[in-house]
Amino acid sequence: MQDFNVTPYDVEGKVDYDELVKRFGVSIIDNAMEERIKAIAGDEHFLLRRKIFFSHRDLGWLLDQYEKGKKFYVYTGIAPSGTMTIAHLLPFTMALWLQEKFGADVYIQIPDEEKFLTKKDPCLTLEKINGFAHEDALSIAALGFDPKKTKFYIDTENANTLYKQAIRVAKHITFSQTKDAFGFGNDTNIGALFYTSLQAVGSFLKSAIDGRNVPCLVPLGIDQDVHFRLARDVTEKIGYYKPAIMHSKFMPGLKGNPKMSASDPDNTIYLSDSRDTVTKKVNRAITGQQSTAELQKKYGGDPEKCAVCQYYKYFFEPSDEKLAKIFAAERDGSMLAGEHKADLAKRINAMLDEHRKRMEALRGRMDEFMLKD
Ligand code: TRP
Repeated sequence: MQDFNVTPYDVEGKVDYDELVKRFGVSIIDNAMEERIKAIAGDEHFLLRRKIFFSHRDLGWLLDQYEKGKKFYVYTGIAPSGTMTIAHLLPFTMALWLQEKFGADVYIQIPDEEKFLTKKDPCLTLEKINGFAHEDALSIAALGFDPKKTKFYIDTENANTLYKQAIRVAKHITFSQTKDAFGFGNDTNIGALFYTSLQAVGSFLKSAIDGRNVPCLVPLGIDQDVHFRLARDVTEKIGYYKPAIMHSKFMPGLKGNPKMSASDPDNTIYLSDSRDTVTKKVNRAITGQQSTAELQKKYGGDPEKCAVCQYYKYFFEPSDEKLAKIFAAERDGSMLAGEHKADLAKRINAMLDEHRKRMEALRGRMDEFMLKD
C-alpha cells in the first residue's frame, strides 16, 4: 500500500522519510558523516545538524576525494514557474555554504523548458518562463554567490553547450526506463521524456568543459532523486564520475502540507510577497496549539505540527539553543500563537527586504554569472 508518493512531478500524502530512504535506496547522513563534514569544513550548518539535509549517495567517496586533494564542484537547479518561494532556497543555501567552506565552483541549471513541457497551464508560455528564469538567477545570485566561482545556465539560451551533452545522455536512457522512473504514460509528450537528459548534464558539465574528470556534489530536494538515479548510471557509462547527492526534506507549508508547493499561494511565502501579505499568510498558518488560549496555557501544543515552529527550524532560527526555547515555549504553552506569528512575520519580512535590496544591487550585473555558450 502506498500511503505517500514522491516523484519530481508530484508529492502526495504524509512523507515518511525513513521509508523513503529504503524505497530510494539512499543512505542516511548519520552522526559520523555529519562529524566528518564538520571536521573538513571547519564549521557546521544547521541544515545538516537538524537533519534537514538527511540522506545522500556517495558522500563518503566525495569526501575521500576531497581529502586526497581532488576538489568537487556543486550542481543544483530550479525549474522556473513564477516567483521563487522560501522553500526553494534550501538547496541554494547549502550550495552557497559548500562554496564558502570547500571552495567549490557552483553550476546552477535554470531549465526554462521543464515546466513548459510538464505543466498543462496554458499561461506558462516559454516567453513568460524565460522571464522568470532570469529573475530566479538574480534571486539566487543575491544569496551571495561568488561570480568568479558560479555559473548559471538557462536551457533555451545555452542550448549550444547543453544539447551536445544531453544527446550523449539520452542515447543511454530507454523509453521504458523513463516511463518507469517518472510514472509517465503513453499520453506524456516526448519533450517531457527527453527532459531528464538535460537535467543530467550538470552532473558532468564542468568535467566536459574543463576536459578532465571533476567530482560533483548535487544538493537537492529528495523529490529530484529519480533524475539522478538515471543520470548516475549514464555519467559513468560515458566516462565521468557518478555525481554524489545530498537530499533535503521538504520544507512544510504554512497550512501544514508536507511540501511547500509553489502552486498554492496561501501555503507558501514568495520572495516577492509584500510585508502585508507575509503578515497575513503567517497569521493564517496552522499551529500545533490548542483551540483557545486557556487550553493552550493548560495543555501546551505540538511544535512538530506547528508550521510556525517548523519555519524557525528550517530557516529562520540558526541557533539550536534558541530554537529549543521556541519549541519548549510552544510545548508548555508559555508562548501563544499570536506572539510566535508576529515574531516570525517580522523575521521573514526583514529577510525579504534585505534580499530584495541585494537583488536590486545586482540587477544589470548578471552577465558575470552566466555561462557563455
Ligand atoms: N527539476 C528541478 C525543479 O523542478 C530543477 C533542477 C534542474 C534541479 N537541475 C537540477 C534540481 C539539479 C536539483 C538538482 O525545480
